[in-house]
Amino acid sequence: MKALIVYGTRYGATRGVAERMAEWLNESNIDSTVINIKKDQWPDLSSYNGLIIGSGIKIGQWTKEMKNLLNTKKEEINTFSGPKVFFVCSGYAAIPEKYQEIKEEYCKKALEDIGVNVDNYEAFGGIMDVSKSSKQSWVNRQILRVAGKENPEFNPKGINDSRDWDKIEEFTQEFIQKLQLN
Ligand SMILES: Cc1cc2nc3c(=O)[nH]c(=O)nc-3n(C[C@H](O)[C@H](O)[C@H](O)COP(=O)(O)O)c2cc1C
Repeated sequence: MKALIVYGTRYGATRGVAERMAEWLNESNIDSTVINIKKDQWPDLSSYNGLIIGSGIKIGQWTKEMKNLLNTKKEEINTFSGPKVFFVCSGYAAIPEKYQEIKEEYCKKALEDIGVNVDNYEAFGGIMDVSKSSKQSWVNRQILRVAGKENPEFNPKGINDSRDWDKIEEFTQEFIQKLQLN
């Protein structure tokens, strides 16, 4: 059994999720290949039984490489017969009042606009690092601080990693079950 996990990231949050997903898959004896769409070659899908696609969000958008990938490979993805799922890492997804709307906008609607079909999709929180050690530019940190005001949990001096690992594991385990039943 083999699964492909392909991700697009700007600041690393989505890579962390993709790599953790690969560990859960491996624990279930599913061999997984993790590729960063900005650097790695898109492989031949026919050698995989399942597909996970994930992107980080900036100003409402997936990474440009992810957008290009889904535009150019949509036929191949749509005709892929194994389970296929999609996720985003988004700062706003961690705000309970915004979560449902964000999930529809960044996953369902964005996929529909391109014409890509998946079996399941989910919006996870991301990392909004405004700490002293942040690698974000000064401008980005200001953007994050403004956006963070919408989240009562936001620490204006902290790393703000709002990835919910229980939720991510649940999503991954559901994918594993589908893969094993397929
Ligand atoms: C400049 C900037 C703009 C952002 N814009 C949004 C946004 O429009 N919506 C959102 O939900 N999150 C936004 N975020 C938060 C990111 O989604 C979050 O940092 C996520 O973890 C990014 O994923 P990545 O590290 O894999 O690129 C923004 C972050 C930055 C730095």
